[in-house]
Amino acid sequence: SIYSISALILAYLFGSIPTAVWIGQAFYNVDVREYGSGNAGATNTFRVLGKKAGIPVMLLDILKGWTATNLAYVIGVTTTGAYHSIAFTNYELALGIAAVMGHLFPVFAGFRGGKGIATLFGMILAINLPAALLCVLVFIVTLLITRYVSLASILAGFIYPIGVTFIFPVYIKSVIIYGMCIFILVLVTHQKNIERLLKGKESKVNLFKKKTT
Ligand code: G3P
Repeated sequence: SIYSISALILAYLFGSIPTAVWIGQAFYNVDVREYGSGNAGATNTFRVLGKKAGIPVMLLDILKGWTATNLAYVIGVTTTGAYHSIAFTNYELALGIAAVMGHLFPVFAGFRGGKGIATLFGMILAINLPAALLCVLVFIVTLLITRYVSLASILAGFIYPIGVTFIFPVYIKSVIIYGMCIFILVLVTHQKNIERLLKGKESKVNLFKKKTT
C-alpha cells in the first residue's frame, strides 16, 4: 500500500541521518570522513574524536535501525496477529535494510556514509532479540581479544545467520536468507578492512584511552 511504501522511504531517511558526520561537525568542527578509516560510523568517530562522541553516534545509529524496523508496527498494527506472520517479518526486514541503505548511502551527506553495523544491530534487535544478543557476545569477545572492531563486526555478521538458523529456531526461510545476505553485505562493506587485516595493517582500538591512532 501507499503506507508501506511511505514507511520504506521514511526508513531510508532515518538511516540517512549521518550522525557521525553531524556530531563531528557540530561539536568538533570535524568531518570524521577526512580522518582515520574515512568511515562515517561509530567506530571511526570513536577513533577520531573519542568515546564522548563515539558512544552517542553508536547509540543513535542503533536507534535508527531499531526505529525504522519498528515502523512495521505502525503499518501492521491494525491486522490482528500480523506480528508473527512471514509477511510481517519480511516487511520488518525490508524496513531495516532500507535504514541500513540510508546509513551506507545517506541522502543528507552526499551519499558517503558508514558500514551499517550499528544500524544492522538495531534492526536485528527489533526482529530477534536472542540472535542480537548472540551477535553482541561474539562482537565483544572478538573485540576484547583482538581489538579489531572490523573483525568483531565480520564475525558477528557471520554468526547471525547461524544463530537464527540453528541456535534459535526461527523457522522463517526469509530470515535465514536475509541473515546470509546480511553477512555478505558486511563482507562487502568491510572489503578494505579485510585487506588491511590480511596485511596486518588494520588499526586497533584502545578501549580505555580517549583517543587512538
Ligand atoms: O562499524 C564499522 C567497523 O566495523 C569498522 O569501522 O572505521 O574501522 O572501518 P572502521
